[in-house]
Amino acid sequence: QRLPFRLLTCQGTVAADLRGGERPSGSVETGSEDKTPKKRFSELQQERREQAQRSVLIHCPDKISEKKFLKYLSQHGPINNHFFYESFGLYAVVEFCQKDSINSLQNGTVTPSLRTEAAIPFRSRFFNLKLRSPSNQTSEQSSVQPNNQSPPSSKKLLESLCYAESVDEQLNTLLRAWQLTEESTRLRYLTCSLVEDMAAAYFPGCAVRPFGSSVNTFGKLGCDLDMFMDLDHIGKLDSHKNAGKFLVEYQVKNVPSERIATQKILSVIGECLDHFGPGCVGVQKILNARCPLVRFSHQASGFQCDLTTNNRIALKSSELLYIYGALDSRVRALVFSVRCWARAHSVTSSIPGTWITNFALTLMVIFFLQRRSPPVLPTLDFLKTLAGAEDKCIIEGNNCTFVRDLNKIKPSENTETLELLLKEFFEYFGNFAFNKNSISIRQGREQNKPDSSPLHIQNPFETSLNISRNVSQGQLQKFVDLARESAWILEQEGVDHPSPSHNQPWGLAALLVSSLASGKSSSGKKRRRPASERVKSLLESIRGPSADANADGKRTLS
Ligand code: GTP
Ligand code: MG
Repeated sequence: QRLPFRLLTCQGTVAADLRGGERPSGSVETGSEDKTPKKRFSELQQERREQAQRSVLIHCPDKISEKKFLKYLSQHGPINNHFFYESFGLYAVVEFCQKDSINSLQNGTVTPSLRTEAAIPFRSRFFNLKLRSPSNQTSEQSSVQPNNQSPPSSKKLLESLCYAESVDEQLNTLLRAWQLTEESTRLRYLTCSLVEDMAAAYFPGCAVRPFGSSVNTFGKLGCDLDMFMDLDHIGKLDSHKNAGKFLVEYQVKNVPSERIATQKILSVIGECLDHFGPGCVGVQKILNARCPLVRFSHQASGFQCDLTTNNRIALKSSELLYIYGALDSRVRALVFSVRCWARAHSVTSSIPGTWITNFALTLMVIFFLQRRSPPVLPTLDFLKTLAGAEDKCIIEGNNCTFVRDLNKIKPSENTETLELLLKEFFEYFGNFAFNKNSISIRQGREQNKPDSSPLHIQNPFETSLNISRNVSQGQLQKFVDLARESAWILEQEGVDHPSPSHNQPWGLAALLVSSLASGKSSSGKKRRRPASERVKSLLESIRGPSADANADGKRTLS
């Protein structure tokens, strides 16, 4: 029987038409409270990785019958899960029940023959599905429903914040609107898995793992995809193989340092992605950075990817943040709001510069939550005391040990509301002695600053390093001014607006639209107009036709 579709492998080179964020489909998540992950980070990574290895990515015709599509693919084996999303075309992620189905699919797939260009015949898990006879199929079929997973527009988000009943609800609304969906997470692991297939051509047995905000529970729709190429398990001995009179080693090439080895490996993988990687465009090798990386855009998923290797500490940091994010449902809500607030006021940016990074902001929130009485979060040193022998972890001489089983950590006795915590966060950092103190989530208390950098946040694992050494005095001052302003607004709101209003930004919404650029300085309360008046005029400004414009970088919430 002649099948209605023909599969072609996607070619290595595609016109560079880059996008910043992803737009896959997504289902509605129910919020932070009932979705708190409780699995160990390593278990979750393993499960997701295995799921991704059974999955394929398919570029589909714009109009396609879902039923026929699934029937066609099921000839290779049962399908466990699938979804469609749009990103300059219609794509499907299909997860088979068994890995073997992918071999079957690949065996029935052809490499396209082109008239004017030559295809590089790389057999990936990224396919192009074509209709054999487009005209008679499009008429009968119902198109699929790709779920839209893009983050909400600033205007829409502000509206839903205004309709919330309380500041606590506002923080949870923001979290729900912006957290990574199941589909985005699947697509992130699949993208790593596709890159792993390429890297494995050089280094069989390597693993490409996502880290950073894609996996640390603080990821926002559209955030970049940080990848770590793990070569550590290649050629490591199992203890049972370590018996006998001889030891066999691989013959290897040696280079003068780890850094040079990392640069050489990334250079080759970068070339490979650039020349043969279907959908990998805009490949840049940034090998002289402190942490060498290959940056590229994965067109089909829309992800901006940063690939590193020899970066095990960053993966451990992601695991630590994962634990903090999963411990208490208030943590993620607070971190999302603070990050969003910082972005709305250009206190942070995704491009490198002298501003405070998202990672630094996250550590500041964690530190603040450790300082509450009773604490909302335990210190890293305390998590170390709970660690068992199996948790022991030393990376490049740094002790990275902490308990990894979430169930061994007692829940906090602190019952403060998100509203109070948000206000206190701004109060706390609005008055923090940045000139003499350093922030350490390891000890959970201020330390004397070891150097003169304006902002000192101790690297949790490489404790002599400052993760915010890039921050200038000017950027820090901007953060402090805004924090004071925001604390003041939240305080005034209690007085000015006893009940939430649907007509003007209040609570978190007021913080996101308020701006020092509106001509006010935070230091003198006397110079202000009443909050209600300022907020009203700001609402007018966001209601205008340029509500979502971000040309001045001040009002954008994304
Ligand atoms: P996004 O802004 O959503 O991408 O947040 P992110 O946490 O993924 O940050 P980013 O992509 O900049 O960095 C990825 C990961 O690298 C972070 O989660 C940290 O684990 C680590 N990282 C980033 N910046 C630093 C730094 O200055 N020092 C150290 N030690 N690790 C860092
Ligand atoms: Mg990142």
